[in-house]
Amino acid sequence: MAVVAEADKLRQQGIDVVDFGAGEPHFATPQHIKDAAIAAIQANFTKYTAVGGTTELRDAIVQRHAADFDSDYRREESIASVGGKHALFNAIQVLVDHGDEVILPVPYWVSFKDIVRYAGGNCVLLETDEAQGFRVTAEMIERMITPRTKLIILNSPSNPSGAVMSPEDLTEVVRLAHERGIWVISDECYVYLNYTDRRFSVGSLREFRERMVIVGSLSKTYAMTGWRLGYALAPAAVVTAMQKLQSQSTSNPTSIVQKAAVAALKGPQQCVTDMRAEYIHLRDHVVNGLRAIPGVKCTMPEGAFYAYPNVSEFFGKSGMKSGADIAHGLLHQAHVATVAGEGFGTTEHVRISYATSMENIDKALERMRKFFGGL
Ligand SMILES: Cc1ncc(COP(=O)(O)O)c(C=O)c1O
Repeated sequence: MAVVAEADKLRQQGIDVVDFGAGEPHFATPQHIKDAAIAAIQANFTKYTAVGGTTELRDAIVQRHAADFDSDYRREESIASVGGKHALFNAIQVLVDHGDEVILPVPYWVSFKDIVRYAGGNCVLLETDEAQGFRVTAEMIERMITPRTKLIILNSPSNPSGAVMSPEDLTEVVRLAHERGIWVISDECYVYLNYTDRRFSVGSLREFRERMVIVGSLSKTYAMTGWRLGYALAPAAVVTAMQKLQSQSTSNPTSIVQKAAVAALKGPQQCVTDMRAEYIHLRDHVVNGLRAIPGVKCTMPEGAFYAYPNVSEFFGKSGMKSGADIAHGLLHQAHVATVAGEGFGTTEHVRISYATSMENIDKALERMRKFFGGL
């Protein structure tokens, strides 16, 4: 958000800024989803609904998940919220007490850390190795467990690195947590943007779901970031507690949006397949372009729509000391908006969101080439 604000300031001065900053799809919401929202307005579906979403929507959520990931959640184990972030926020408030420890792999999406802190918990950061593709394993997590560990937060595909955990690694982490009586929140907001041929949700691990919360979102899957519709799948007691919390803040997600969400989840899924194919195309192009810049290193992201290049080679040149310096230089000198790795817990990277047009990517890559070449 801070980057967007700074980039906007430059735009107001008439400067053409290429936006690699915003973490959202560049696609329009598919027509059949928009039509469902318009029909909902026309039909006066504009009143309060049940706090956790209509039965129609909750059924659509569990059925979509069952069809795609072989899970068997019941309606009572689902809740619709005002975006995935809202579901995540409520789940963390419900699960984490003051002084609890939460294991969080680095790099992490910045909101995880702040939401845990808001709940009074302490994040225990798990460093990962870029050379291993930021891999997270059960052995690594096991070393971080203490008697205070309450929760492990997983996010695969990852924002910001695009790293994808293998089904085996995910299974082992969830098994470990189950054995130790530790909760797992699996943020699967990018689960449909997995570019390996092994799309996987921990929700398919039915035997371990007693202490598991899956957070999902329509934001990225259906290009619906502004609509604000996310959900959680969790044991019924957790869902009940989350509903209680939600009932004293937002109440139900917008009624009209719920109708659109049903259309998204129950309608044709070709739009998801098409957008995924386009992201792969853009990913390959942007990573090849970044790797062609002397000094820039970039692991191949296997999901989401982020690349996370390592720019540490330039530290010490032209006063650059960190990812934040590079991101600042890229914005103010090259007019390319990126996000510094510091917000995600690493100092050597910048995050690039390649959910934009090929033309914008080419323009930004050219500017970056010049910028780095001039350091
Ligand atoms: C890892 C991750 N989780 C959750 C979200 C929340 O998305 P929303 O609240 O739009 O569903 C985001 C959005 O950027 C994200 O990157």
